[in-house]
Formats: sequence, structure tokens, C-alpha cells
Amino acid sequence: MSAKVKIAVVGTGWWSTTAHIPALLANPRVDLVLIDKNPTALNAAADKYNVRTAYTSVPEAVAAHPDLKGAIVAVQHQYHDEAGKQVLDHGLHLLMEKPMTLTAKGAKALVELAASKGVQILMGYTFPYLAPIQTAKRYIDEGLLGEIEYITCSMTSMTIEFYRGKPAEYAEVMNYPVHGPGNSTYSDPRVAGGGQAHLQITHSAAMMFYLASGLRAEKVSAFMGNLDTKVDVVDAFAVRMNNGAVATVGSTGNIGKGDGGIVEVHLHGSKGRLRVDAITGELHMRLHDGREERIAPHSPGYPGSLPSQRFVDMILDGAPNEFPGATNGLYTVELLEAAYRSAAQEGMPVKVASLYA
Ligand SMILES: NC(=O)c1ccc[n+]([C@@H]2O[C@H](COP(=O)([O-])OP(=O)(O)OC[C@H]3O[C@@H](n4cnc5c(N)ncnc54)[C@H](O)[C@@H]3O)[C@@H](O)[C@H]2O)c1
Repeated sequence: MSAKVKIAVVGTGWWSTTAHIPALLANPRVDLVLIDKNPTALNAAADKYNVRTAYTSVPEAVAAHPDLKGAIVAVQHQYHDEAGKQVLDHGLHLLMEKPMTLTAKGAKALVELAASKGVQILMGYTFPYLAPIQTAKRYIDEGLLGEIEYITCSMTSMTIEFYRGKPAEYAEVMNYPVHGPGNSTYSDPRVAGGGQAHLQITHSAAMMFYLASGLRAEKVSAFMGNLDTKVDVVDAFAVRMNNGAVATVGSTGNIGKGDGGIVEVHLHGSKGRLRVDAITGELHMRLHDGREERIAPHSPGYPGSLPSQRFVDMILDGAPNEFPGATNGLYTVELLEAAYRSAAQEGMPVKVASLYA
């Protein structure tokens, strides 16, 4: 097995220049190629990080580097399908930023394409790699909670200025290393899809599906509010899962500058309950038999460099794919698409099966 792997980053905007590019450059097992269809964004990233292998399309990069093995797609939400398809068509493993796509049909198409090419899709989720979430996962997989019956899943985050099309408002807090997201990236529905659900609930919902593996939404009813933007900022979903469990999934993007918010999943099962928050790292488990386990709040930090590291380990070492597109990616997209469809019909329940009709 070769000691190094050549990886492309597709989309050299805010998130790649913040997380993926620095992490890949710090990884001695990686040769890096940059791709962005916008030459200004491409050159800014290439200059900042002194990368000379930079191209404006996937086919051009593959022609110049036939030894490419994988690509990280970090483009605006509406372009996930087309960029993901290009990567998979060339037989490359894919690390896909969240949400996988805006539609369940689109996500399914990528899953099927990856299977036909014999390559993997790893989702770019971050929070579940944190140690307290891994501990929670171990307890749940050991069966300590029994059958999951009820979940509350809540995420609050500092994102409203993105939805207002004013990412510069967060420059002081976020310290964009090269550039922030484009003004339209999260504010224009034609580029972003939706707002808080597509940008943020995707994280908390994916964490919920990761912790309660095997669960999948069957029916969703949702309400959303845009506040003073063109996309959703406040969201409340009610969900019935495939095992009969019920869940509430909620979020707001309107919290103050510098507030880390919450990314909390609280699962209740037939034998006990467990609450974990990825921002504070706090965990509390209370079983019906009286056993209690706690991890005190300790702010574990944001593991933004881990997705690309795990992607490399997956390709070079056969390390496990923790968040496969076929399950974690797809199930999250199904929940979000059903919620958007429901909210557009004043909360009318939407069956996930109908997304494939
Ligand atoms: N995991 C996280 O914590 C996290 C944080 C922020 C953003 N993200 C995700 O990262 C992705 C990118 O967000 P961003 O804020 O960096 O966006 P951005 O607008 O800053 O950058 C996107 C870049 O992609 C390029 N692009 C679009 N389509 C392309 C294509 N087909 N081929 C090549 N380049 C293309 C654009 O020219 C642009 O430069 C989104 O999916 C977002 O949700 C993840």
C-alpha cells in the first residue's frame, strides 16, 4: 500500500481555506490539488497556502493528476450534486460536506453512483468525532438505553448574519483566514437551498442518526420562520421514526456574536436516557436501574481537521467510514427535505417515502 495519497479539494471558499486545506497540508501523507471554478477564489487560496497544483475544473485536475484518489467537495449547497457526481464519475473517493444534497433523490443517486464505481462517500460531519459523543455512542451500542423511544435534538448557533447575506459581520469572531463565505452562499435560496436546517440542523440531526443508528425518519411535520431573511432561521420539526420512536428537532441561528450555542441530543429509551452536548462536551446518562454516568462540561473544541484526516486514513489504511453517504448522509437529507416540504404546507405531515415518488 502506498504511503501517500493525492487528494483534491473542490471549492476553495471559506470552509476549505479554514479547515480542509490547512489540515491536508499538515498531513505528511497527502499531496494536495486545489480546484475551484472561480479563478479569484482559487488563486487566493493557492497563494495563501502556496499550492501550485490548482485548477478550475475536476476534469482538468484529473487529466493533470491521473493518480488522484479522492476529493473533498466543499461547494455551495445547490452544487453538491453536480460536484459530487463529477468526483465519483472519475472513480475518486468522496468526502462530501454537509448536507450531502438538498434532495433525497439526489443523495440516493450519489450513493448508487459510488457503489457502481466501487468508491466510498464519507460525510464531512465533525461533532460525532468528539470523545463525549464517542462515549455516548458506545453506551448506546452496548444497549444500555434499550429501545430508543423519544429524542429531543436541539442546535442553536451564530449564523443569522449569513442568512442576511452579511458574513463580514462575523469576520472578527471567525477570523476568516482567506475569505468568508460568499454573500449569497447562505442567504440566497437559489444557492443555499434553505437556511438553518440545511446549514446547521444537518449537524445535530446527523449526530442523532449516528447515536441512534438504524433509526430513520418516516414522517415529518415542521414549522419554520425566516425572521428578516429569505431562508429559515428558526425551525421546529416533529418526527416519527421507522421503529415508532418520536423526536423533536429544533434550532435557531439567532444567537449573539461569540456565543457557541448548543448541539444537544437527548435520547430516551426503554432502559434509560442519555443527554450529550457537543459544544460543552457535557454528558449525562441515567438508567432506569439507577446507574448514572457523567462527563462534566469542558468545551472540547471544534474538530474541523478530523474529517479530512479520517478520509485519508480510510483511503490509505482502510479505516472505517464513520458517516457513510448511504446511511448517515442520506437519512439526514431525507429528514431535512421532508421538513422543508412540510413547512411549505403549514406543517402538513410528509412521508419520507413520498420524496422518492
Ligand atoms: N463542517 C463544517 O463545520 C462546515 C462549516 C462551514 C461550511 N461547511 C460546508 O462547506 C461547504 C462550502 O461552504 P463555504 O462557506 O466554504 O462556501 P463558499 O461560498 O465560501 O465557497 C464555495 C466555493 O465553491 C466553488 N464552487 C462551486 N461549485 C463548484 C464546482 N462545481 N467546482 C468547483 N468549485 C465550485 C465556488 O466558486 C466557491 O469558491 C458547504 O457545503 C457548507 O455547508 C461546513
